[in-house]
Amino acid sequence: MSNSKGFLFLTIGFTALAAGGCGPADEPEGEAAVPTPQASAVAEADTTGAAIWAHLQQSDYRSTWTLWPGKGELYTGAEPHGMLLTTYLNDVALRALNSGASVMPAGAIIVKENYMPDRTLAAITTMFKVRGYNPDVNDWFFTKHLPSGELDRAPTGMALEGRLPGCTNCHRAMQTNDWVFTGQLGGGN
Ligand code: HEC
Repeated sequence: MSNSKGFLFLTIGFTALAAGGCGPADEPEGEAAVPTPQASAVAEADTTGAAIWAHLQQSDYRSTWTLWPGKGELYTGAEPHGMLLTTYLNDVALRALNSGASVMPAGAIIVKENYMPDRTLAAITTMFKVRGYNPDVNDWFFTKHLPSGELDRAPTGMALEGRLPGCTNCHRAMQTNDWVFTGQLGGGN
């Protein structure tokens, strides 16, 4: 299925980056900020914001993924994500939601586009479930990209990818819902 292909692509993407080592250093800061796998058991390859962005472009998620059920395009959101949101699920995430799973499986990706009140796209945030990546937050890998495809950065300069306390400290409020705000998991609809 396309899901497992997508996941594989990300894994390969990371491997290529890792193998590339000191490839074209156009983003030295970004490279330094790439999260490293924890020394203890990381069951599968780590990933990167760049690999996720490439996967989103390649899969053309706007036409091939599904809007979060019950949410249309440009629905009204809460702080800090922006006034208008559009949220997509890949097949793995959609199937988990529809089957009433209480936790999304590895390979699930949620993409949320954040728009300004004038409908200008401001940022793209993702949550990607990577087996063994970060058990403290149910293995979600977080990213925040600018519309250009560059990773957004914290005021400290840290690229917003991977283990991001700034994101997870707030999403923690939903930890009994697999750290997800937008809808109730485990519904079994
Ligand atoms: C202050 C709280 C808060 C912070 C900080 C926060 N979020 Fe969220 N997030 C939310 C809320 C609330 C929603 C539900 C959508 C809405 O109404 O805005 C959400 C939704 C999401 C979603 C859609 C899936 C879901 O959980 O519903 C993604 C993806 C996401 N956030 C990513 C991020 C990323 C990446 C960061 C850090 C760069 C981040 N969030 C920081 C509160 C937060």
